[in-house]
Amino acid sequence: MTTKQRVIQIAPMAGSPSANERLQEEYDVFELWKQSDPMAALAQHAKGVQVAVTSANTGCTAELMDAMPDLKAICNWGVGYETIDVDAARQRGIAVSNTPDVLSDCVADMAWGLLLACARRIGQGERFVRAGQWGQVHGTFPLSTRVSGKKLGIVGLGSIGLGIARRGAGFDMDVRYHNRRPRTDVSYTYMDTLAGLAEWADFLVVATVGGAGTHHLVNREVLEALGPQGIIVNIARGPVIDEAAMVQALQQGKLGGAALDVFENEPKVPDALKSMDNVILLPHISSATQETRKAMADLVFDNLKAFFEQGKLVTPVA
Ligand code: 8YV
Repeated sequence: MTTKQRVIQIAPMAGSPSANERLQEEYDVFELWKQSDPMAALAQHAKGVQVAVTSANTGCTAELMDAMPDLKAICNWGVGYETIDVDAARQRGIAVSNTPDVLSDCVADMAWGLLLACARRIGQGERFVRAGQWGQVHGTFPLSTRVSGKKLGIVGLGSIGLGIARRGAGFDMDVRYHNRRPRTDVSYTYMDTLAGLAEWADFLVVATVGGAGTHHLVNREVLEALGPQGIIVNIARGPVIDEAAMVQALQQGKLGGAALDVFENEPKVPDALKSMDNVILLPHISSATQETRKAMADLVFDNLKAFFEQGKLVTPVA
């Protein structure tokens, strides 16, 4: 007979098999994501289970919470939790945790990687070499855009946005930001409209939270204000940018480039983007380093342990 605590795993801890294995070792795991009929499976297995583990891309709906009548805590693998119905959780007395801070550095690093790759045509240059075009008659490579000393706009100056801003100092950049409200603890200039920030900036990096409050925040007006030489970078959530408007702005030459780790309907990427050389496309991997994925896993396990031993979470969401 097992003495392990029972946990419902709504979704796998994406891209980290060792975290999933560790969950199996330490807990008695019911893998909901492997069930062909999850609701029927919960009706059979959820009784008495107090804790669920999920991931930022899957989250947990109110309907799912209702199917787990004894649920007391949801531990999220990821910092973003817009896919968890937090209001519904509150109403049901279910605590929710996420994995803040531990991934900020790697995500900020990737924002810079994306920006450099797009502005300096790194992806295009790579494809050029691999295709054997270097040194060929048709093989002249187009000039790129300077990054150092330019104007960097950041949308959302939270922990990740601040990491991106700090790295800007190393590139001698003038950094400004737009937030719901100005921060009192930073010296970067606050712009009270996003379109104003985009108009000012050479490069606009999206680092805000996802969810209904930021849906299509970066719209046609913002993209066109960024302009034909401007580059948009997104390491936050796909739906923050109006993807159709972005594709159109790129096609019409009204936007200079886009460097994207996230998309509106992952894993779907608009085909139009795949043929554009001024676009960088990544499969939502900004936090996907060995070190950060381990730190995220550790935090999920710290939350589980604290909940089972003391009835409270280490990193509850606000
Ligand atoms: C992960 C993330 O890729 O933490 C987040 O919110 O988006 C990423 O770190 C991931 O989605 C984990 O499920």
